[in-house]
Amino acid sequence: MVPSSRYLVENLLSRVDWQRARVVVEYGPGIGNMTREILKRMRPDAVLVAIELNPEFVEFVRREVSDPRLQVVCGSAGEIRSILESFGHDHADCVISGIPYSTMPEPVRRKILRDTRSVLQPQGSFLVYQFTRTVLPYLQPIFGNVQQAFEPRNILPARLFFCTP
Ligand SMILES: C[S@@+](CC[C@H](N)C(=O)[O-])C[C@H]1O[C@@H](n2cnc3c(N)ncnc32)[C@H](O)[C@@H]1O
Repeated sequence: MVPSSRYLVENLLSRVDWQRARVVVEYGPGIGNMTREILKRMRPDAVLVAIELNPEFVEFVRREVSDPRLQVVCGSAGEIRSILESFGHDHADCVISGIPYSTMPEPVRRKILRDTRSVLQPQGSFLVYQFTRTVLPYLQPIFGNVQQAFEPRNILPARLFFCTP
């Protein structure tokens, strides 16, 4: 796994209204490079719930990224609703997603996107970065508004999708 470049991180995170975001979720923090940048931009009273499938990455991020606003959960993005509930949150203001939608089974992809939409505040946003456009036709029926961008300065060049309900 090659971590996202600083260009991709900046391109993606510049779209978030950090003053308004109090409950932030990250799907697939990996080794935590995006996680650290999210924390730098977050309000002091905001919380970040990072959901990662791989227990080794979970352990690594818990050890290496020390911030009282961060909760790293070992699980799947498909469990977003119950995970948020377990921390006493009924919504998210912003969900930032680095997980590979093109390789997961279609029912899992649909469930993650539907459940993400259901926890987003009306003013909230869902930010997705991918190496292909495979996810786009799944995003469009669920999120009313999907804007696209391209970041070539990354290994591999990345497609960005900014979704709002
Ligand atoms: C491409 S890496 C992104 C890492 C990092 N966020 C970055 O930008 O460099 C994708 C990560 O998503 C995790 N992942 C894949 N499917 C997932 C799922 N359904 N729920 C949570 N994490 C998942 C993988 O274990 C991996 O750490």
